[in-house]
Amino acid sequence: MNEVSAYVADGEQDAEATVRPKRLAEFIAQHRVRDQLDLLLRGAMGRGTPPDHILLSGPPGLGKTTLANIVAAELGSGIRVTSGPAIERSGDLAAILTSLATGDVLFIDEIHRIAKPAEELLYSAMEDFRVDVVVGKGPGATAIPLDVEPFTLVGATTRSGLLTGPMRDRFGFVAHLDFYAAADLEALLHRSARILGVPITEEGAVEIAGRSRGTPRIANRLLRRVRDYAEVRGDGTVTLATAREALTVYDVDALGLDRLDRAVLRALVDSFKGGPVGLSTLAVAVGEQPDTVEEVCEPFLVRAGLLARTPRGRVATDAAWTHLGRTPPAGSNAPADLFGSDQRFP
Ligand SMILES: Nc1ncnc2c1ncn2[C@@H]1O[C@H](COP(=O)(O)OP(=O)(O)OP(=O)(O)O)[C@@H](O)[C@H]1O
Ligand SMILES: [Mg+2]
Repeated sequence: MNEVSAYVADGEQDAEATVRPKRLAEFIAQHRVRDQLDLLLRGAMGRGTPPDHILLSGPPGLGKTTLANIVAAELGSGIRVTSGPAIERSGDLAAILTSLATGDVLFIDEIHRIAKPAEELLYSAMEDFRVDVVVGKGPGATAIPLDVEPFTLVGATTRSGLLTGPMRDRFGFVAHLDFYAAADLEALLHRSARILGVPITEEGAVEIAGRSRGTPRIANRLLRRVRDYAEVRGDGTVTLATAREALTVYDVDALGLDRLDRAVLRALVDSFKGGPVGLSTLAVAVGEQPDTVEEVCEPFLVRAGLLARTPRGRVATDAAWTHLGRTPPAGSNAPADLFGSDQRFP
C-alpha cells in the first residue's frame, strides 16, 4: 500500500467509525432485535449479573459488530475483540478468557470459523466459567482448571448454519439481522449525512437507499462516493441528479447490484444457460472464492429474487434474465430459495 492509499483507507475507516451508532437508541430499524436486546440487557443489569451469551447472525454489513460494541457500551463494560480465524490454538483462547475482568464482553467475530479444540474450550468457559488448560504432552499431560470471571460472549456469524449444535445451544439469545427496508436506509442516510456534514435532499436519500442492497454499510459507502461527486462536480449537495450520476460512474445499477453481483448473474445466464450450476464452478467463472460468492453476493441476489439455490445448483430466475436485458428461455422458472440461506449446496 503506498502512502496515498494508506491515507485514503484510514480516512474511510474514520468516516465509518464516526457514523457507527454507539448506543442502542441510535441503532436504526431492526426493532425486534433492539427490543429483545434492550430487555436482555436491562434484566441483567437489574440483577447485577452479566447477561446471557449473545449470538448475532446475518449477512455482512447489517450491524453485527456495531451491536456487539453497543452491548458493551450499554452495560458499561469493557470489550475484548477477536475472531474465529484468529484463534488458532486453544491456548490463545485460554489466555484471552483468563484475562477477562468480571462483566467484560468478549466479542468473537466469524465465530463459525473457530478451530475445534478452541471451540471445546469455549463451551466450558461459556457454561461453567472455567477452562481446563492442558500442560505437557502424552501420558504425562495434566489438565489445570482455571477460573474465568463471569463474562458475556457476543458471537457474530454470517453463516449461522455452519455453527455446531452444542455451540448454538450455549447462546441464551440469538438475533438474526435481516436486510433493511428502503425507508430505514433513508433514515440511516439522513443520520450519516448529518454527522458527516453533507447536505442531502429527500430524493437524494431515496435514490441512494434504493441502491444499497438493503445494507447499512453499503448505504454509508455510497453516500461517501456521492458526496465526492457532489463536491467535485456539483455544489456539494447530494441530490437526485448527483446521486444518479455518481452511481453510474461507480457502476452501481438501479437495483444496487455491483460489478461482482452482475458478473455472477451474467455467468449464470451466459455461460451456463441460466443454470443449475454448482457454487464452485460459478465462483471459478467469476474469478472469486466460493465463500465470497456465497456469503457476500448470494444472500441479496436470493432476497431480490434474481437467483435461486436448488439442490442441483444455482439457477437464474426470469427476473435475472430480464434485469440483464435478455429474454428468459421459455418454460424456465426457477423456484425460490427452497432451503434457506444457511444450507451449503454443491
Ligand atoms: N442499524 C444501524 N443503524 C445505523 N448504522 C448502522 C446500522 N447497522 C449498521 N450500521 C452501519 O453500517 C456499518 C457496518 O456495520 P457492521 O460493521 O456492524 O456490520 P457487520 O454486520 O459487523 O458486518 P460484517 O459481517 O462484514 O462484519 C457500520 O459502520 C455502521 O455505521
Ligand atoms: Mg463485523
